[in-house]
Amino acid sequence: MNNQLNHIAIIMDGNGRWAKKQDQKRTFGHFHGAENVRNVAIAAQELGIKVLTLFAFSTENWKRPLEEIDYLMKLPAYFFDKFMKELMERQIKIEFIGHFSRLPQGTQKVLKRAMEQSKNNTAMKLVFAMDYGGRDELVEGFKRYAQDVVDGRENNITEDEVENYLMTTGLGDVDLLIRTSMEYRISNFLLWQIAYAELLFVEKPWPKFTPEDLKLCIDEYHQRQRRFGGLG
Ligand code: IPE
Ligand code: IPE
Ligand code: MG
Repeated sequence: MNNQLNHIAIIMDGNGRWAKKQDQKRTFGHFHGAENVRNVAIAAQELGIKVLTLFAFSTENWKRPLEEIDYLMKLPAYFFDKFMKELMERQIKIEFIGHFSRLPQGTQKVLKRAMEQSKNNTAMKLVFAMDYGGRDELVEGFKRYAQDVVDGRENNITEDEVENYLMTTGLGDVDLLIRTSMEYRISNFLLWQIAYAELLFVEKPWPKFTPEDLKLCIDEYHQRQRRFGGLG
């Protein structure tokens, strides 16, 4: 029962299917998914989690219909308008990983404002992964490293130093990765950072995933025996 738990990452999947099941548009699912981010983030903070990283939009999600992409890109404005005050009261710090410059200007502005406003908060980092892909992150990191070597850095990188070339610098490895909606895959999320994460796949779609479900996931995590290749 004494596994350390600093960093939880969640692949928030199943919004569209959940909506369709009720004869609603997929965007209806995304709306309720965004509302649920507030509930789960606050629960995580209350449970003492230090970092919560949420997969909100992947580098592959640009393949979706324009209308859906548009809706997803506008959700942060709605989300922060409605919940920023509460997040600030709780000392939650907003961070971002992903290909920031490719997001629409309006979305960038909203995210920048939230990050700026919350930069001194200390209770929990709430990290939004938008236009994020694990491979894209590695490509960007390789480019920066190559440039540093050209600029005179010694070509002697270690595993610890790789972290400096990722978008997650300072967030640490993922301890627990949760994916909702019963798909058993990683879908290009945090490839380096989940090397030794405990994986949990839950049946509920994201809009139905409750703070109580988070608590159950954490309980399950504490039952696991993490060995990191040793004998425990
Ligand atoms: C997850 O829900 C949210 C995003 C990928 C933006 P989906 O939109 O993938 O919902 P399903 O998987 O189609 O049900
Ligand atoms: C992963 O979900 C991305 C997000 C949750 C943002 P997808 O729905 O895009 O993943 P696949 O396509 O089922 O693998
Ligand atoms: Mg999906």
